Amino acid sequence: MANQKIAPGIYYVGVSHYDRRLFDALISTPEGTTYNSYIVQGQKATALIDTVEPEFKALLLRNIKSAGIEKIDYIISNHAEQDHSGSIPDLLAFYPEAKLVTNEKCRDLLLALMPDIPADRVITIKDHETLDLGGRTLEFILAPWIHWPETMMTFLREDAILFPCDLFGSHLAVSNICMDDERVFYEPMKRYYAQIMMPYRGQAAKRVETVKTLAPKMICPSHGPIFKDTSVPLRLYENWVSDSLRNEVLIPWVSTHGATARMVEHLTSALIERGIDVHPYDLTAADLGRIAGHLVDAATIAIGTGCVLTAAHPVAAYAALVANALRAKAKFATVFGSFGWSGVKVPDQIAGLLGNLKAEILPPVMTKGAPTAETFAALDKMADDILARHQSLGLK
Ligand code: FEO
Repeated sequence: MANQKIAPGIYYVGVSHYDRRLFDALISTPEGTTYNSYIVQGQKATALIDTVEPEFKALLLRNIKSAGIEKIDYIISNHAEQDHSGSIPDLLAFYPEAKLVTNEKCRDLLLALMPDIPADRVITIKDHETLDLGGRTLEFILAPWIHWPETMMTFLREDAILFPCDLFGSHLAVSNICMDDERVFYEPMKRYYAQIMMPYRGQAAKRVETVKTLAPKMICPSHGPIFKDTSVPLRLYENWVSDSLRNEVLIPWVSTHGATARMVEHLTSALIERGIDVHPYDLTAADLGRIAGHLVDAATIAIGTGCVLTAAHPVAAYAALVANALRAKAKFATVFGSFGWSGVKVPDQIAGLLGNLKAEILPPVMTKGAPTAETFAALDKMADDILARHQSLGLK
């Protein structure tokens, strides 16, 4: 991707990683991602806001050069994670007059992660401290947990442009960083939110309020497209960080010989008959990123699992661990499935993996061998229970 001018003296110089398929070795990125880096020119100094994954440092340098930038005075680090900081040592070497500007926590992490960063070239700033570029002022706003504890946002006051790093990011490789088609970025943005922001939803909610106070005219995150209409990311995030849920049941399931699969089919139909949206995913083939997206607003998670010996299938346990790690919003959870000779421990095992969720655990349905008429009746009862709980929340 070439550099792109987004305002006079402000350039996008990041890169698209079209072929990235996994992020943090956890969530799939079927549409790749971008590592966004920005140049802000003042009358007396030029700043680079964040860098890129180190494997793309040559492309970053080429984009900076092609924007006509010969000298960088400040490299701003909003976040120490490698996808934004990994090229800092090379950039500092390439621009020997540049200083690295960041907050104290980020400084400590950067020096721990990349000991080759010269400590004497780091300027440490405090919350709301400013940096004068000459006619342009960067304000640094500490914003812990919009991924890691050291994260911060940078606000360009005169232009009212916000650089919030991971907040409002999308895992979407784009050729035009200003693309504004919500139909295209919605799912990659929600998938990103689920993995990065949802575990600290309360903190993200606070940052959304901070952003509203700043009233930026443009939001330039560190992944995916920028937003010239700032009402769009704010609207999406206000919904995602809220307690609101959808009348949906997420069913991550795995079946060793087909019995649990038949139970999935029956429960899915029973829920649909009761007017509930259902999202069943066979975990042997499912895209974990799509499942993560549903964790943002599904009111119930029903995990279907066959057994390996006397325990839940490890793949089902993994799905529960992911839902727990991402702190899904679901208010209700349950377990169903088939076992060979003993599966009595399975519901407690899965429920024990969901300790971070503030979810009521509904009665499970476990059956020995093939499902019977009694099993299907129990699944109908499970669907009734879920419907009643959803109605109690006013979900339709
Ligand atoms: Fe995009 Fe938390 O790094």
